[in-house]
Amino acid sequence: MDTSKNLVSHWDAAYHKDDEQLGWFESNPESTLQLINTCNLKKDASILNVGSGTTLLIDTLLGQGYTNIIANDLSEVALTKLKMRIQKKYAFELNCVPDDLTNSSKVGNLKNIDLWVDRAVLHFFLKEEEQKAYFKLIDNVMATNGFVLIAVFSLDGAEKCCGLDLQRYNLEMLQQGLGKAFKLIETFNFTYINPFGGERPYIYTLFQRR
Ligand SMILES: C[S@@+](CC[C@H](N)C(=O)[O-])C[C@H]1O[C@@H](n2cnc3c(N)ncnc32)[C@H](O)[C@@H]1O
Repeated sequence: MDTSKNLVSHWDAAYHKDDEQLGWFESNPESTLQLINTCNLKKDASILNVGSGTTLLIDTLLGQGYTNIIANDLSEVALTKLKMRIQKKYAFELNCVPDDLTNSSKVGNLKNIDLWVDRAVLHFFLKEEEQKAYFKLIDNVMATNGFVLIAVFSLDGAEKCCGLDLQRYNLEMLQQGLGKAFKLIETFNFTYINPFGGERPYIYTLFQRR
């Protein structure tokens, strides 16, 4: 699995399943929401959910009155499902940006993002150049004082997800990736129980651009 085309097919195939059958499905994205509430954002703040898949986080944020949400994913199948659900539920045209975070042609053109949200995406990037491209992208698109929320498998977390190997993280590794321009606001560990009963320990982190 080393070409980006293969990866797109891999993720597209995953999203042909019902959402509840996905190993990362969350009916209530409570830990992410807890950190988002900490940010105390205006309702028109620009929120970029990278590798969003079909997450219900978007529904919750719209329900809370946020109006400027952008969803990104490598999988157009996932984004189409998400967009259609949101259109049906909220009569809202969700801004979807299909793009590869490790070799971006579209996300990198965004500017002044107030909140970057990544749950369970960064840990799929195994090569150093992919990780560097990801952190560079954050640096390029974030607003001054913008928040970066990253939730990834912790060092004691699972070694694979969706059949793919993972790079697991601790706080120091995330801080090192982001660099000194981002200061830690909050972090905690959270064990997510997946739809099949498996325990998946995560580290949740919230940083802010200085
Ligand atoms: C484990 S899922 C998590 C989905 C969502 N964040 C959630 O919490 O439900 C990982 C997601 O990352 C996406 N993804 C994987 N590699 C990516 C890349 N290089 N660029 C953008 N998205 C990617 C996948 O398509 C998938 O939707």
